[in-house]
Amino acid sequence: MVSTSLPGGTWTLGDLPVTRFGYGAMQLAGPWVMGPPADHGGALAVLRAAVELGITHIDTSEAYGPHVTNQLIREALHPYPDSLHIVTKVGANRDQQGGWPPARDPESLRRSVHENLETLGLDVLDLVNLRLGDAAGPQPGSVAEAFETLVGLQQQGLIRHLGVSNATPEQVAEAQAIAPIVCVQNMYNLAHRQDDELIDALAEQGIAYVPFFPLGGFSPLQSSVLSTVAARLEAAPMSVALAWLLQRSPNILLIPGTSSATHLHENIAGAALSLSDDDLAELGKIGR
Ligand SMILES: NC(=O)c1ccc[n+]([C@@H]2O[C@H](COP(=O)([O-])OP(=O)(O)OC[C@H]3O[C@@H](n4cnc5c(N)ncnc54)[C@H](OP(=O)(O)O)[C@@H]3O)[C@@H](O)[C@H]2O)c1
Repeated sequence: MVSTSLPGGTWTLGDLPVTRFGYGAMQLAGPWVMGPPADHGGALAVLRAAVELGITHIDTSEAYGPHVTNQLIREALHPYPDSLHIVTKVGANRDQQGGWPPARDPESLRRSVHENLETLGLDVLDLVNLRLGDAAGPQPGSVAEAFETLVGLQQQGLIRHLGVSNATPEQVAEAQAIAPIVCVQNMYNLAHRQDDELIDALAEQGIAYVPFFPLGGFSPLQSSVLSTVAARLEAAPMSVALAWLLQRSPNILLIPGTSSATHLHENIAGAALSLSDDDLAELGKIGR
């Protein structure tokens, strides 16, 4: 059992206990998630601080950099503490322009799983998300061939648990009809509430929902309501946004991204903010 004083307590991903407050490593790569970080030592320090602060869930992908983020995680943290669980995703490559072309054919998925094992220095990946859709968001279409490929790799012992990302509710259900999933990682935050029903349905099934862009991603969350509530609470808007997610549903796990140890500390402290029913009602109007 993970014992933590981090806000939100813990959750069990399949059979893996993790802190609900995790860390998203994407911001550690260079601009637009391409190339190395400007401050290599600073990136290592953020990763080490995350683990020292008690975080046991780090989200990454071989596509970040590409290769860069996984290599930083390995350099900073390998050999990994038993309590640390690294979640990666497959299903997209990078192109010369920094785009994220889909790569969900069986061969690309197998190669990506092996690359993740290599760059992270692992024999087994704790949790692999199949990234669907495209940069514009989830797109309809069958996930069967791609998901079955990952199930095959899981049966070979290379993957412990599976999830889906950037997925429609129909694709989540299609994957679940093939094999169990332990999480869905989709875009969701105070201003983007398209997955409200899905979150509640997953909560009933004991499946985690892991919002990406919890702080708005490349376009920081901006809302006059959020600013008003934050000012009243004498808190930063980012803190309110994270605290709201933790209070939104017990199956929500946070993976806010930052390249700054200062922001990491601020986000952990801020997510512990207790929002009243009135605060929640006011904030609830933002994305509706
Ligand atoms: N499945 C997918 O398709 C997918 C897509 C995107 C992301 N993800 C995952 O989701 C994670 C989170 O997403 P994200 O990092 O893109 O977006 P995010 O967490 O919504 O926001 C990150 C941005 O917020 C800034 N920030 C963080 N804390 C701050 C603070 N206290 N004050 C001011 N600015 C702050 C960061 O800048 P600083 O670096 O300056 O702190 C960064 O620019 C990623 O790391 C990645 O692991 C998954």
